[in-house]
Amino acid sequence: MKVKKAIIPAAGLGTRFLPITKAVPKPMLSVLDKPTIQYIAEELLSVGIEDIVIVVSPGSDVIRDHFAENLDLENRLLQDGKQSLYQIAKDTHRFNVQFAVQETPNGLAGAILCAEKYIGNEPFALLLGDELLYADANEKPCIKRLVEVFEATGKSVIATMEVFGDEVSKYGNIGIADEKDDVITIDRIVEKPSVSEALSNYAIIGRYVLSGEVMGMLKNLKPRNNEIYLTDVLDELAENKQLLASSFEGKRYDVGDKMGYIRANVEFALRSKEIGEETAEFIKQLAEKI
Ligand code: G1P
Repeated sequence: MKVKKAIIPAAGLGTRFLPITKAVPKPMLSVLDKPTIQYIAEELLSVGIEDIVIVVSPGSDVIRDHFAENLDLENRLLQDGKQSLYQIAKDTHRFNVQFAVQETPNGLAGAILCAEKYIGNEPFALLLGDELLYADANEKPCIKRLVEVFEATGKSVIATMEVFGDEVSKYGNIGIADEKDDVITIDRIVEKPSVSEALSNYAIIGRYVLSGEVMGMLKNLKPRNNEIYLTDVLDELAENKQLLASSFEGKRYDVGDKMGYIRANVEFALRSKEIGEETAEFIKQLAEKI
């Protein structure tokens, strides 16, 4: 079955980035000149998914504005002969975006359920808003690999990376039943285990392709501490050998973390046609001084 839809949960309060997140929603923080949420939507172009549900917190009008057409701006850029800027403005509304509001923060599973009316029982890609996945021209985008694995097997699939030491405790962790090429069959999931509880060195990162049954499974979950957990559904799929994991090419940035955010900005600046060389020169000079 083809994957045609995606959910981007982006309703976090972003308290780690106060004070900027007091008035600016976290998904609108920019890496170089583009909000992180747009980079994530653009990952989906590699698999032709244009129907996207963004789950936002109440009062996220700027995110809606960002993905809407702004005719005044576009006409102005055209009149001034600024063709490439016009294209940049147009590219922000090439997606078919629906917004779902998560009224109260009740976890990742709660965010996914907010998108239910747009997704129904169809499979969907899930891209967490705090992570950017970058692939260069020679690399296969992470979400593309996941869609390929899903479409070949019909099983839900998550992206994974190897982590070491106490890093395992920051992520969902997978137990390996079988491994073939870059595809792992999972038999168990534990969420953020201690080092001694970890099942393997493989962490779940924020890219998933989930089968049509997942939405129904989420609805039937019993809450724990007033939250429902995607991990519980993933664990159930894993027990029945219905959950796969795949590694990915390219680079992951945790932009929900200050250091990850700085890394993303520096590396995207280095890759930029406009300021890449100057940035490299600047970093070299700076490195001599520190
Ligand atoms: C979520 C998931 C976790 C996963 C992580 C990836 O956790 O629950 O399994 O490893 O995203 O970033 P969060 O970071 O939202 O606490």
